[in-house]
Amino acid sequence: MRYQSPKGTFDILPEDQAYSRYVKARAQHIATLYGYGEIETPIFEYTPVFARGIGQNTDIVEKEMYTFEDKGGESLTLRPEFTAGVVRAYLEHGMHVRPQPVRLYSLGPAFRHERPQAGRFRQFHQFNVEAIGEQDPAVDLEVMLLTWHLYDDLGFKGLSFQLNSTGCPACRPDYLQNILIPYLRRHVDQLAAEDQRRLERNPLRVLDSKERQSQPVIEGAPRIIDFLCDECRQHFDTLRSYLDLLDRRYVLNHRLVRGLDYYTKTVFEIWAQGIGAQNALGGGGRYDGLAEALGGPHTPGVGVAIGLERIILLLKEQGIAVPPLPGPEVFVAYQGHTGKRAALQLAAELRAADIATVSAVSDRSLKAQMKQADREAVRFALILGDEEVATGKVTVREMATGQQVAIARSNVSNYLRGRLVF
Ligand code: HAM
Repeated sequence: MRYQSPKGTFDILPEDQAYSRYVKARAQHIATLYGYGEIETPIFEYTPVFARGIGQNTDIVEKEMYTFEDKGGESLTLRPEFTAGVVRAYLEHGMHVRPQPVRLYSLGPAFRHERPQAGRFRQFHQFNVEAIGEQDPAVDLEVMLLTWHLYDDLGFKGLSFQLNSTGCPACRPDYLQNILIPYLRRHVDQLAAEDQRRLERNPLRVLDSKERQSQPVIEGAPRIIDFLCDECRQHFDTLRSYLDLLDRRYVLNHRLVRGLDYYTKTVFEIWAQGIGAQNALGGGGRYDGLAEALGGPHTPGVGVAIGLERIILLLKEQGIAVPPLPGPEVFVAYQGHTGKRAALQLAAELRAADIATVSAVSDRSLKAQMKQADREAVRFALILGDEEVATGKVTVREMATGQQVAIARSNVSNYLRGRLVF
């Protein structure tokens, strides 16, 4: 038995919370700015929600899911992503009767049994956004703009937006069967062993292979956007014209295919340098067939998920400071038995007046208590020594200047409220 956090997971200690709280707050603010409401779905779902939704032949479903049987014999899976669960909730709650698209966001943990490395964990956190029920490319644009907005708001520099279309069931099978697979088969000897395997199981994924040996073949592969059906072509062209209209720069990347099988038409990723081998800060796209795969009626949708750990890594990498977390403002120190009783009462009074307060609790020397006040980084220490107790006063010490004043006990919270900015 090892008493440490499981491989690929980590604790977020109080002193590390400033980043994640700030990023979550900005993400929530921007989601609200675009009219998205928060949805919380369970951390686990019945396994078929993900197996059918994400696709049997994906790395996630084949290798990375935390699947278990519960005591009732049901197969459940910890969510490896949000989209399938959110679409399941849309169907389950009949959200098609609401104004479309239904705009939903979530923040929370997801789980994938991957090989841990910088920026890649087994429990990680996503900010996830979905717009469900509308096929207009203006919604693809909206989700992309929201993503950009967050990155601009956080102050990131040098990001690259990668865009592609992966077609739909009307045109992708043709491209695969008649164009891509024959091309890759002609060059199979030049492909890495792993890509030869992919060619059989999920040929589109060969395009985003990182295997060095396969690169020349992949570079020369026919591009899917040259084989789109009219509907997909028009959708893609319109989206691109909207991006131009809003002066948004992106890189057309014909190798971008994404690791989940539900995508149709638009796919995109946001890349950053300096966050390790895993350079995707976020990714998303359109999934017009997902609701049907989950047993519902045809329901188009588009969304994005952004990895919070990678955002935090990049904030640190780019030297972007975040506001510190609010901490206690006041420390109450005391001497003796009567002093302690007065200190406990005073601390309770201050908290009731909304002043963040910690109180000394063990009967250490005043000197040791003042040291603790210093470490707590409070603005004021309140001292209830023998003399103060005798006179009904409290010594208020401003930590930054060392200045001290004696204040009547009954007036302390008023005095502090006047000095502290709320
Ligand atoms: P994804 O590309 O699998 O897409 O994940 C989105 C983001 O989550 C990644 O770009 C990365 O920032 C973060 N991420 C993924 N796996 C890990 C990991 N093991 N450790 C740390 N961060 C990770 C999806 O999940 C789709 N559901 C996105 C979407 C929403 N498509 C439509 N709607």
